[in-house]
Amino acid sequence: MRVVDSVLDLIGNTPMVKLNRVTNEGMADVYVKCENLNPSGSLKDRIVLEMIREAEAEGKLKPGYTIIEASTGNTGTAVSFVGGYLGYKVEIYMPEGMTLERIRLMECYGAEVHQLELESISEDESVAGAEVEIGTRQRCLELERTRPKTWWARQFSNPANTRAHYKTGLEIYYQMEGRVDAFVASIGVGGTLYGVAKALKGENPDVRIVGVEPASANYPISEGHYRMPGFSDEITGGIIEEMMESGIVDEVVKVTNRNAIEMSDRLVKEEGLFCGISSGANVYHALKVAAEMGPGRRVATVLPDNRDRYLSEKKYTT
Ligand SMILES: Cc1ncc(COP(=O)(O)O)c(C=O)c1O
Repeated sequence: MRVVDSVLDLIGNTPMVKLNRVTNEGMADVYVKCENLNPSGSLKDRIVLEMIREAEAEGKLKPGYTIIEASTGNTGTAVSFVGGYLGYKVEIYMPEGMTLERIRLMECYGAEVHQLELESISEDESVAGAEVEIGTRQRCLELERTRPKTWWARQFSNPANTRAHYKTGLEIYYQMEGRVDAFVASIGVGGTLYGVAKALKGENPDVRIVGVEPASANYPISEGHYRMPGFSDEITGGIIEEMMESGIVDEVVKVTNRNAIEMSDRLVKEEGLFCGISSGANVYHALKVAAEMGPGRRVATVLPDNRDRYLSEKKYTT
């Protein structure tokens, strides 16, 4: 068994599991990378550690500073965890309407959570990360400009995000012994898909890279919306725009909230994988790609987060 010097050493190097119950005969094998097993419950632990370490090395983040971030939950929780562990004060700016568990998780790690009023998000709609975060990014920008000793992590445009997931991609490549035919991942701010795509295509340019977005997105990436109209470069664009313009993504598809939730329920009940809604979206589409590719091929995807942060959502209690 592994013994580590600090909890931060538990970030990354997550296991991969082959799906057995939600798959059918006649399709490619599907493997999921269990990012829900990172210490604070999501793949955001990776990017936060990378962003903080780089900012420290560059002298942008120093002892006594406050780390701020705009987040719907996972990045906020990861900043609360890593930032708190490293002795920084943490403030998270969240859109209103997220589950109480997410706020409590951040508070458990010692963060201060600020909820900002936003245009309403329908109960039935899934949330496109960039759209729902825009107001909270604006607040972080104002704070960074006006308040001393404040460092904004800026996950949506920080290159350390993509670099952290380049490592995720290499892990996948080596765990699957180089045999990956397709990779599928939902796009929030884009770091996972872009970083993993760079690693996998660097090893094998024929790997098919598929992005997933919520069918309810107001500005779908699949229809060429790589930034939010009407906002400055400082709070929109970023990784998504660079990734899409690079041509590394072969296709972006839409998955409905209903299909994502149904599949995430099946992953918990049938596969025993305690994961959230975007995991359901990822696997729902990974199975489609696997059916297209057929036996003998291998499709990889990620389970971005843990189900614990959604338990009080009505849609999960049916
Ligand atoms: C639950 C969940 N799934 C998927 C993603 C997508 O990750 P990324 O921001 O790297 O595109 C995020 C984050 O934005 C997330 O919180």
